[in-house]
Amino acid sequence: MATAPPTTDALVGRDAELESIRAFLTRSTAGALLLEGEAGIGKTMLVAAAVADATERGWQVLECRPAAAEAQLPFAALADALGDAVDEVIPALPAPQRTALLGALRRIEADVDRLALSSGALGVLRALAEYRPVILAIDDAQWLDAPSANVLAFALRRLTDEPVVVVASRREGEALPPAVEAALTAIGVERLPVPPLSLGAIGRIIRSRLGLSLHRPALIRIHEASRGNPFFALELAAAAATAGDGAGALPVPETVRELVQRRLAALPKDARGGLLVVAALGHPATDVLAHAVEDWQRVVAPALDAGILEVRSGRIGFAHPLLASGVYGGAAEHERRAVHDMLARVVPDPEQRAWHLAHATARADEDVATTLERAAAGAAVRGAPETAAELAEHAHRLTPREHLDERASRALQTATYAWAAGDATRSRGILVDLIGTLGPSPARAAARQLLVKIVDDIAETIDLLGDALDDVAGNAAAEASVLNLLARQRTWAGDFRGAIREAETAARRAAESGSTAELAVALAREAQARVCSGERTQHELLDRAVALEREGGDSIPVGDSPTRIRALCALWDDDLETAWELATAVDRRAQAVSESWRAIVLTTLAEIELRRGSMAN
Ligand SMILES: Nc1ncnc2c1ncn2[C@@H]1O[C@H](COP(=O)(O)OP(=O)(O)OP(=O)(O)O)[C@@H](O)[C@H]1O
Ligand SMILES: [Mg+2]
Repeated sequence: MATAPPTTDALVGRDAELESIRAFLTRSTAGALLLEGEAGIGKTMLVAAAVADATERGWQVLECRPAAAEAQLPFAALADALGDAVDEVIPALPAPQRTALLGALRRIEADVDRLALSSGALGVLRALAEYRPVILAIDDAQWLDAPSANVLAFALRRLTDEPVVVVASRREGEALPPAVEAALTAIGVERLPVPPLSLGAIGRIIRSRLGLSLHRPALIRIHEASRGNPFFALELAAAAATAGDGAGALPVPETVRELVQRRLAALPKDARGGLLVVAALGHPATDVLAHAVEDWQRVVAPALDAGILEVRSGRIGFAHPLLASGVYGGAAEHERRAVHDMLARVVPDPEQRAWHLAHATARADEDVATTLERAAAGAAVRGAPETAAELAEHAHRLTPREHLDERASRALQTATYAWAAGDATRSRGILVDLIGTLGPSPARAAARQLLVKIVDDIAETIDLLGDALDDVAGNAAAEASVLNLLARQRTWAGDFRGAIREAETAARRAAESGSTAELAVALAREAQARVCSGERTQHELLDRAVALEREGGDSIPVGDSPTRIRALCALWDDDLETAWELATAVDRRAQAVSESWRAIVLTTLAEIELRRGSMAN
């Protein structure tokens, strides 16, 4: 075995794949290229080659490489991908989108409206693509955090002729987030399998990276044992070189995992402890690590020397994700818990602290559950309902069995967040379970009311609400809320008489309980059903409803807002001026609250404009 100094990191033996990448990058419209293959086969190198090619062509590069530990951090990938490019184009975005983006990227403290954020991300891609083609490179796309995945998917699906291409990699055996898979399919995805490398290529890589020229028999042995996997082959060759035996005598590890374990075992014990902390964090900034590991520079020095860790722009991370999973997966359960428990006390970000707390805790603990519940609410407000659902589920898992009300309420929260995240199947599953286990109670009625939003079949929703009424019998305020929803469903079902009846009862129960908001909604729903049934518009009912709404500080959700219903009735009456005035008032409110509500109001405004003969607006 001769030793020569290591030379380059050049890509070896990938001519065919490079040719496919080059051909892919000649396109001028949206599309995706997905590199797929086993761990360590060389996907990251090919993604890097695509980025280098695009850079040479003068394209705008957006890049993210999520680590496994970061899959739970909302918007981690989005922040990496959009990064500084945002600054260029953000001034041109509408104010709500700007706020949502900056809030999600944690540049400002702001509540994040999800529709505004997704539209903002689309706006950024479009704006950048006006100047030059954009490449969005996502290495290890299987670890995209769900909120980033959904926002990027929203944006990608809406691209058409814009020159924005995605080059992503996925590790075999791991699934892409469903939204990403769907989005790539929607913009048209070309799959590029990354196959094993030839004997010659493996030999050249070992020579250039390690400066080793192996004898042919040793090389053949390594190529066979690694099955043409360059990561595996490089590790094998390096291990053999340190043993100084030309790869002849050492028993060859069967798996990459085994090999990684051997390499880690050679480190001092406290260095391994430090590695577990890094693995649990992903790519921590060095100052975060300083809080977590005493004398961190000394502790991680051997791992840096061994090329297991590397420092890049103020962050420390593993040289390869297989090393990170080797460390994390190789640690005992109690060691992992201990590290998460420690991190739950030192990391600066409250949501991140909550994650570590969740991973640190195995047994029910009301204090922990309460903390997680609060963190879930925080994530929801920050536009990450996916994260909120996960945290709420942990809160539910850690709630003591005997705390029945908290358990029900946390299950309900999980279902609500999952629904907001667009995961109706999960939400429905939780709700059906909850309804099956709870006795008659406001919580069971609330579960049924939420299920009404998910179920398509209108007759089924009416049955659900009938059962919900039984659940809250005697509780006037809760009955009024159920009856109002029932009035809406009956109107939608065309049962206007029934709707009027429910709304009248809702109004009585709301008045008894002193609930101004429910009373306002009940009056408006009654008026709406009467108009639908062919009666004259009940201006008096509507005026009262709107006055009550104002009295309550305009806090009724836009979907139920009497002002919005009154605008609709005016539109049906052909009183376009009143309709316009009221609908724009609601629109102003919707803009302040959220873009999703606004979409509802905008359809009404559009219809008014259409009737006014003003097509252009
Ligand atoms: N064609 C190549 N030429 C030279 N070196 C290569 C080549 N392919 C891979 N390598 C080296 O092999 C190792 C593994 O490659 P890479 O990290 O790209 O694999 P991967 O498929 O991305 O793995 P993972 O799924 O774990 O992310 C790296 O150290 C890389 O430098
Ligand atoms: Mg990789």
